[in-house]
Amino acid sequence: MLKQFAIKKPIIQAPMAGITSPNFVAACCEAGILGSIGAGYLNGEETKSFIQQVKALTDKPFSVNLFIQDEPKIDISVLQQARTALQPIYEELGISNLQRVVSNNVFDGQVQAVIDEQVPICSFTFGLPSADIIERLKGNGTYLIGTATTLQEAIAVETAGLDAIVLQGSEAGGHRGSFTEDIELFSIEELLRQVVPKVSLPIIAAGGIMTTAHMQTMLQHGASTVQIGTALLTATECKASELHKNAILQSHEKDTTLTKAFSGKYARGLKNKFTEDLKDAIVAPYPIQHYLTIKIRQESVKQNRSEYLSLWMGENSFMAKEASVQEIVDTLLAKI
Ligand SMILES: Cc1cc2nc3c(=O)[nH]c(=O)nc-3n(C[C@H](O)[C@H](O)[C@H](O)COP(=O)(O)O)c2cc1C
Repeated sequence: MLKQFAIKKPIIQAPMAGITSPNFVAACCEAGILGSIGAGYLNGEETKSFIQQVKALTDKPFSVNLFIQDEPKIDISVLQQARTALQPIYEELGISNLQRVVSNNVFDGQVQAVIDEQVPICSFTFGLPSADIIERLKGNGTYLIGTATTLQEAIAVETAGLDAIVLQGSEAGGHRGSFTEDIELFSIEELLRQVVPKVSLPIIAAGGIMTTAHMQTMLQHGASTVQIGTALLTATECKASELHKNAILQSHEKDTTLTKAFSGKYARGLKNKFTEDLKDAIVAPYPIQHYLTIKIRQESVKQNRSEYLSLWMGENSFMAKEASVQEIVDTLLAKI
């Protein structure tokens, strides 16, 4: 799938909103893999400027990743219960004013930036773009990738007319890209077994891929290529905070958990005081919970308190190594 873009190595750097910097994306492109801009938290202008910064650093192709978001339905009683559950942490960190919920209506501007800047590849998570958007992007020659966490979602991506599927296993770090209601957890190997015989689009395997043996297994099970996040978070060029990098490097097997407590959507990260305290708490729907907890994360960084931070990492974080992007990529491809 990547050969048509003259990308030499069968690896995609996972788009990681809030973490990918222009330098990091360009370093991934220069290492011979597909770099991806995690634009989920950027508005249209910021997306455009980010794309231009990457273009100034590399002439290789890269992708932009966008979030598909519905306006959340706010139930006041759920909102109050979610705030009550967070109150002891607000008090402990000395937080009084909460972040106001801002509108998510940035999607059109992001899409326009992708079109104006002629970005060759655009991927989506948390859902499918409308038929209109698909037509506009395809009319512009953009290659489109959707994210799926179940067979049903993979079929939906294919039916909608996108070009490839990121199949995200339950091992994956960060948010699950699910867009159907119930949480159904499948490992990436199990997902490949279910999906490969049922769809004809190229499949990009994601979730817990840290070694050359993992890479081989994915390719043997029918994946065209892989998408890696956690393995690159500890790269020297990655701008993840030292707290985040150290948490990954010091993590052990079974140290991660799936939690909705930070954003209202399931995401995998390090088990810590925050995830444990809020294990059974009522949380507001995405992205309201994200806004209710932003100040907790900002204040935790200032106070150097990792126990309340969202330290996203995949189930195999304990295998991560500190090295350059090039070294991480070369190690992954050592026997391929
Ligand atoms: C810190 C972090 C942020 C992420 N942000 C995004 C994102 O913005 N968009 C997206 O499609 N996937 C995102 N993901 C998920 C990745 O695309 C991918 O599924 C995951 O990293 C694969 O699992 P691994 O981390 O074990 O390699 C993120 C993952 C991490 C670890």
